[in-house]
Amino acid sequence: MIPADLIHYKEKSQKIIALTAWDSISGSIAEQANVDLVLVGDSLAMVCLGYKSTLPLTLENIIYHTNAVSRGFKKRIEEQPFIVSDMPFLTYQCGEDKAVEYAGKIIQSTYAKAVKLEGAEPEIQKVISRLIRMGIPVMGHIGLTPQSYLNLGLKKQGDCIESQQKIKKEASILEQLGCFSIVLEHIPESLAKEIQNNLKIPTIGIGAGNYCDGQVRVTADLLGLNDHQPPFCQPIIQGKNLFKDKLKEWVEYERLK
Ligand code: KIV
Repeated sequence: MIPADLIHYKEKSQKIIALTAWDSISGSIAEQANVDLVLVGDSLAMVCLGYKSTLPLTLENIIYHTNAVSRGFKKRIEEQPFIVSDMPFLTYQCGEDKAVEYAGKIIQSTYAKAVKLEGAEPEIQKVISRLIRMGIPVMGHIGLTPQSYLNLGLKKQGDCIESQQKIKKEASILEQLGCFSIVLEHIPESLAKEIQNNLKIPTIGIGAGNYCDGQVRVTADLLGLNDHQPPFCQPIIQGKNLFKDKLKEWVEYERLK
């Protein structure tokens, strides 16, 4: 699969289903669940590495984890999910040259076929445009952008007219710059619907309602593995409790045997 295929999904009204992965086991489970796309998201900083935010994640971390994820794939290469890797904080905020070098390293040393980066400020627009011209496909990410949580917090975005106008404008700029899709995180459903209607490229929602062209979830949230659940992701099982209870049973059994 190449990025343009995802645009065809939208043309055919075929939903794009994506999950995050951070190691071989989560990669293998996502692949076997038949997702279209695996995002090696910087949420792995919290999910897998125990950090309190995404900010400490490094370029080396994302390369290491992207390679672990792809080693978990077992299907024939043409049938494997499309991998997108997040660009960690400070790998694209310090100018275009550095961003090309770091995104290039991700593409060169992993099986990721695209990178995702957050925001659409003028500096970020320049970076996105340069990456795309240099042959690196880019997925945008607007709405709640966790790498900016020190400024914006982790609350829902697009809750007033100004913020809605800003997000709509950012979405169309990202499309004009050549992004092949955009993640819309934690924004009102009506706003996501309007953006979805206005764009030719697919929107992939998380906490953005049901009208996006696709959905992405942090797998650990969906499986109920984390202690803190984001308000916009209902777990489909209470994974942590399930595993913990089963392991406790096993420990007791082995002790008494
Ligand atoms: O890092 C991540 O998991 C993400 C998703 C929330 C889209 O960016």
